Amino acid sequence: MILLRGVFKTFGEKVVLRDVNLKVEKGEALAILGHSGAGKTTLLKIISALDTDFKGAYTFRGIDVKRDPGRVRKCITMVFQNPVMFRTTVFENIAYGLKVRGYSKRYIQEKVEEVLESLGILELKDRGARRLSGGEKQRVAVARALVLDLDTYVFDEPTSNLDIENVKVVEDAIRELIKRGKTVIFTTHDLLQARRLSNKLAYMEKGEIVEIGETERIFREPGDERTWRFISGMFL
Ligand SMILES: Nc1ncnc2c1ncn2[C@@H]1O[C@H](COP(=O)(O)OP(=O)(O)O)[C@@H](O)[C@H]1O
Ligand SMILES: [Mg+2]
Repeated sequence: MILLRGVFKTFGEKVVLRDVNLKVEKGEALAILGHSGAGKTTLLKIISALDTDFKGAYTFRGIDVKRDPGRVRKCITMVFQNPVMFRTTVFENIAYGLKVRGYSKRYIQEKVEEVLESLGILELKDRGARRLSGGEKQRVAVARALVLDLDTYVFDEPTSNLDIENVKVVEDAIRELIKRGKTVIFTTHDLLQARRLSNKLAYMEKGEIVEIGETERIFREPGDERTWRFISGMFL
């Protein structure tokens, strides 16, 4: 469903993604691990069709993303690590995506409240979204994605600003998406979170996918020394 072949991305002289080959099937949950600067966010933006300025090929369900990014963006959404809020209430921030898609007022009201409730932020509904804390903004951004019924969800370190309690809330929401058969791709610095949520894991280093495979297999017996070092280093 998601197929990248020979993808290179450069910023000026700097090569940030190097010959990335990636295949993600419908309903898979892929965790992308790697140190800061490995190229994870850059790759997620390309996967989400937000950046089409790269070398190589990317097809999403057979659609050439460079030719028709708009069509791909209708199927996929990316939640940023430090999301930008619209200068309005939390409710309006979340309702926006449903409004532009033409849903009825009543449906929007119900749906937004249901999602707010599931993420434990119903009481933030009428607050100004720009004034929230980092962790609150992160949950609003997750809510903005969850209200949409898409088939692929991309999360960039979705729990990096959250305390333990809220990590669980967001993990449960992601787990629910996976259970409903959605394709989910996320990055995280939390190895155990990757292990809890994903069935497929990719380890990136310096713009390359060093290794990709079944999550449990990689945790038990990484096939590359660099992956092993990353995984074991986390536990030292
Ligand atoms: N807009 C940009 N202009 C120049 N360099 C960038 C830009 N975005 C990212 N980079 C560089 O690309 C590399 C990969 O960044 P990123 O994808 O954010 O890594 P990660 O998410 O794994 O931490 C880093 O060296 C970063 O400095
Ligand atoms: Mg990043």
